[in-house]
Amino acid sequence: MERFPYVPLDAKGWRMAMGLRPLDPSRWLEVDAHRDGELELKRQLLESAFDVVVATNPEGDEASAELLVEVRAFLATHHPTLAPVTTSREHPIVEASRLVQEDLCVLVRSDAWRLRAASVCFPSRWSLATKIGTTLDDIHRPIPFYDDQLAGPTSAVFDRLRPERSFWRLNWTLIDSPALHQPTMVRGAPHGDLERWYFRVERQTLRRLEVTGAIVFTIRNYVASAQEMCDQYEDFGSLLLHSLDTTPEEMQDYKGWRGVAEQLRSALSVR
Ligand code: HEM
Repeated sequence: MERFPYVPLDAKGWRMAMGLRPLDPSRWLEVDAHRDGELELKRQLLESAFDVVVATNPEGDEASAELLVEVRAFLATHHPTLAPVTTSREHPIVEASRLVQEDLCVLVRSDAWRLRAASVCFPSRWSLATKIGTTLDDIHRPIPFYDDQLAGPTSAVFDRLRPERSFWRLNWTLIDSPALHQPTMVRGAPHGDLERWYFRVERQTLRRLEVTGAIVFTIRNYVASAQEMCDQYEDFGSLLLHSLDTTPEEMQDYKGWRGVAEQLRSALSVR
């Protein structure tokens, strides 16, 4: 099995952080062996659940068209064999989304930064329809501590973002299903064998578009079972346990992790 690319567990324990790092433009979007399967899954979702996976406001149309141009240019430069030769008559964010494994969001500044166009086939337990048109703060309303700790810095980063200086960050969770498309808010706690616990990492990028000045936020998901992670990374189990042990209770509730640390402790002790 190929090595899982990102393990954003901190030896110092869980903490709420922006964790932005400078993005090498040649690594904006990632292509791997799951490409064909994930693009096929997107195709099926766009056919069967369009309104769940796509949401647009007219305010995002121009920026979505610019995003499509950028996605095509990126593929032409870095993955020329994958660059498309035809165009469709769909909304540009849908057309762009069909070309890459990432989910794509466009935010435009008016009174505040608002989500104006998105194609999100692989949400990690949130509903796109409830977020379209809303501000960064409202999008993050359900998240404990966000208002106090991240809202200010995040808005400031958005206001200062320049086209020539993009960023990326990682987010992780532990859930009870390997499905990429999880648009409902129910947060099942992992249980049973570690083969059926799933470590899900989101690699997110932030980039300001040159012409429209809109911000593109991309989300790419990587999923593996906790067992696979333990097999690949010797210290994964202990790092995960330490992270769970140091996560505040409000955050454990938000993530659906209540009682999970205890289960993990016993699973690791019998191995
Ligand atoms: C620097 C930029 C950002 C930071 C630091 C940030 C931070 C976070 C954090 C800490 C969470 C909690 C997730 C977890 O740990 O499970 C979260 C969730 C989320 N973020 Fe962001 N975020 C950023 C940008 C964005 C943008 C641009 C969008 C636009 C679509 C977005 C959409 C969401 C959504 C939909 C959730 C789930 C909310 C829910 O449960 O209803 N984030 N974000």
